[in-house]
Amino acid sequence: MPKKVDTASARPFTYRDRLLHCDEADLTNLAAQHGTPLYVYSAQQITQRFQLFEQAFASRPHTICYAVKANSSLAILRLLAKQGAGFDIVSGGELERVRKAHKPALTKVVFSGVGKQLWEIDAALEANILLFNVESEAELDLLAARAEALGNVARFAFRVNPDVFAETHPYISTGLSEHKFGIDIKVARAIYRRAAKSKWLDPAGVSVHIGSQIRKVDPFAAALTRVTSLIADLRKDGHNIRYVDAGGGLGIDYGAGTFDPAKQVEKYAAALTKGLADEPAHLLLEPGRFIVAQAGALLTRVLYVKKNGSKTFVITDAAMNDLIRPALYHAHHEIIPIKQPTKSRRPDLQVDVVGPVCESGDFFARDRALPAVKPNDLVILLDAGAYGMSQTSNYNTRPRPAEVLVEGRSTKLIRRRETMRDLLAPELLD
Ligand code: LLP
Repeated sequence: MPKKVDTASARPFTYRDRLLHCDEADLTNLAAQHGTPLYVYSAQQITQRFQLFEQAFASRPHTICYAVKANSSLAILRLLAKQGAGFDIVSGGELERVRKAHKPALTKVVFSGVGKQLWEIDAALEANILLFNVESEAELDLLAARAEALGNVARFAFRVNPDVFAETHPYISTGLSEHKFGIDIKVARAIYRRAAKSKWLDPAGVSVHIGSQIRKVDPFAAALTRVTSLIADLRKDGHNIRYVDAGGGLGIDYGAGTFDPAKQVEKYAAALTKGLADEPAHLLLEPGRFIVAQAGALLTRVLYVKKNGSKTFVITDAAMNDLIRPALYHAHHEIIPIKQPTKSRRPDLQVDVVGPVCESGDFFARDRALPAVKPNDLVILLDAGAYGMSQTSNYNTRPRPAEVLVEGRSTKLIRRRETMRDLLAPELLD
């Protein structure tokens, strides 16, 4: 039996002597040392979340292919690779990240995405990745041609679209037939039959991914039930299906309430097990958010507090280019001060927390009750470890934040802050 994981709490950010810490690290010190905005991650929590998954699926053959897009920082990829993770990638760039972080993990890579380009397919074939998750017949034709040209057989799974509705934000729901993802599960059998005619294609699996930030686990079970019945048909047709890829998508609680990550993973594993029934194939999982979201947070400093009419705005040095989730999906991130407010303090103020970018969409919170803050105070946006840094941009010519990984008592700068020189380097005059 694997050792039971100590899940402690949902977040590694706690007050000690009235100052917020990430595990053992004092965030006030980190801000002084590295400046703000700053992403801070707990290595311990990333490892714990990964181990929760390992533990929940220990009874069947499986590989956890962490979705690189959630947080693609090399140090985090390396941390996970050392735990035995495989990786779910969606671009040639992410393939290079895996190569750089931990080369042996290349053989545990699954490659998803609707628009794979020739050079990306070639690079993945040459790296001998585990599985291509193919999303269209046209892509399969290109894969067959490139496999033949390079003399490497391509193991593939069709990503099927199970037409299952998963309640989440419309931008991150993917399992309905109206979405661009996958192929219609009803036509999959015929396409596998055609694919099997090429000796350069190995129909090795079936994959599915119905969306992200999914809190109820029933849709995962429903999707896998359909996939399992397709696999039974594919076996009847003589295909040697060895992998079933259940995708990612398990949600977290972005709210202030209590959340038990261990229970959530157990429920998820039970739902997948129900959907898979007796299916013996090797299970591939592609979790991203669940592994890294709550391990990370964005530390930022208050620049100004201003009133416009009846509204109060807290303007921080972080902006939508540093964390776009509130602007893009109206996502909620808890915001708390680094100095723990005292009991006798004044009541919370109703404020908008906004960044310096010149758009009204540049907000982190609207009409949020926050303890009073003043310029130079530090606040932190929680649960920003997933789709935070990986979705940053240089909009408004703002350098991207630095990133720090906390490992127990020690802290490590894993990405330095960008400089103006970095930003202007690719541009050409005359
Ligand atoms: N596998 C595939 C094929 C995916 O498309 C995704 C996410 C995952 C796995 C990982 O899903 P996760 O376990 O992280 O839910 N930027 C959005 C999320 C976009 C998710 C895209 N696909 C956000 O900030 O909420």
